[in-house]
Amino acid sequence: MTDQLEELVQQAQVDIAACGEGRALEALRVDLLGKKGRVTDLLKQLGGMAPDERKAYGERVNRAKETLAAALEARGLALASAELEARLASERIDVTLPGRGEAGGGLHPITRTINRVAEIFGEMGFEMVEGPEIEDDFHNFGALNIPDAHPARAMADTFYVLNGARLLRTHTSPVQIRAMQKRQPPIRIICPGRVYRVDSDRTHSPMFHQMEGLYVAEKVSLADLKYDIQNFLSRFFERDVEALFRPSYFPFVEPGADVHIKWTLPDGGWRWLEVLGCGVVHPKVLEAVGIDSEKYSGYAFGMGMERMAMLRYGVDDLRLFFNNDLRFLEQFR
Ligand code: FA5
Ligand code: MG
Repeated sequence: MTDQLEELVQQAQVDIAACGEGRALEALRVDLLGKKGRVTDLLKQLGGMAPDERKAYGERVNRAKETLAAALEARGLALASAELEARLASERIDVTLPGRGEAGGGLHPITRTINRVAEIFGEMGFEMVEGPEIEDDFHNFGALNIPDAHPARAMADTFYVLNGARLLRTHTSPVQIRAMQKRQPPIRIICPGRVYRVDSDRTHSPMFHQMEGLYVAEKVSLADLKYDIQNFLSRFFERDVEALFRPSYFPFVEPGADVHIKWTLPDGGWRWLEVLGCGVVHPKVLEAVGIDSEKYSGYAFGMGMERMAMLRYGVDDLRLFFNNDLRFLEQFR
C-alpha cells in the first residue's frame, strides 16, 4: 500500500522546506508531532493491528517521527541564521563614521585665569572673599579716601542705579573695606569679581574682572608687596617676568604704584601693559574701618584679569574675551 505514513512524510518534508518563518514552522511541528498531531494519530492505529504487524508499523512510525523531527530542527536552524543575517544587514552601523559626540564644554579663559590666580595666592596664604557688584558710595569711594568732588571719581565714571543711590562698583577695592570692617588683622585676602566702567578699546572693556589683594598685619611694607607680586608673576607666567613698578596715584594707598609687563604686539614690537595698581594702604583707610594704623600696616593691589589672560595667551584685543565667538573661545579648551 502507498500507505498513509509514506504520503504524510513526503508532504510534511515539502511543507517543512517551504516554511519561511519560525512561528509557522513551530505550528507545523505541533500539527505533525504534537500530542494531537497527525503522526501521533497514526500511532493510535496500532491498537487495531495484529502483534507482528504492530511491531513493524510501530518502528516505521517512530523512524518517520525521527526523520520529521530532524527535518524540522534543520529548517529551524536555517531560518534562525537567515533571520540573524537579515537583522545584521538591516541594523548595520558604520563604525567608521565620525561620532555625533557630546560637545565638550570648557571653562572661559577668564574663569581659567581667575582660578589660576586664586590658586597661586591660595598657596601663598590668601583666603578668598567676595563682595557685592552693586555698591554704595561709601564702600566704593568714601572709605577709600576718595571724597565727593575728588578728581579720582571722574577717572572712574560708572553706571548708577536707584537714582544714584547705588552704583556698579568700579573696582574690587570696596571688598577690602567690607573685610576690614568685619575683622581685625592679620588679614590676608583676595577678592575676585566683575567691575564696571565707561571704557572701551583694545585694552579696556566696560565690564571686566579684577582680583583685589589685601594683606594687613604688623610691619607690612612696600618691600613685602614688591616681593609677593614679583613672586606671584613668575609663578603665573612660569618664567622670570620683567615687571615695571612705576609710581602711581590712588587716594587709598601711599606710596602707590602700577605694575606693567612687556606685551608683544602683532607687528613683533612690544609695549608695557599695565596689569595692576597697588600700594601701601593709606592710614586714613585703616582708621576709617577701625584698625589701629600705629600698630598695623598693609599692602593692597587690584589686578586686571583680562590683562593677565591677554599676556598669558598672547591675545591682542581684550574685547575678544567677550564677543563669544566660539572659534576664539574653543582654543582655550
Ligand atoms: C584700581 O582699580 C585700583 N582699585 C587698584 C588698586 C587696588 C590700587 C588696591 C591700589 C591698591 P586701576 O583703575 O588702575 O586701579 O585698575 C586696576 C587694573 O584693572 C588695571 O591695571 C588693569 O589691569 C585693569 N583695568 C582697568 N580698567 C580696565 C578696563 N576698562 N578693562 C579691562 N581691564 C581694566
Ligand atoms: Mg591704572
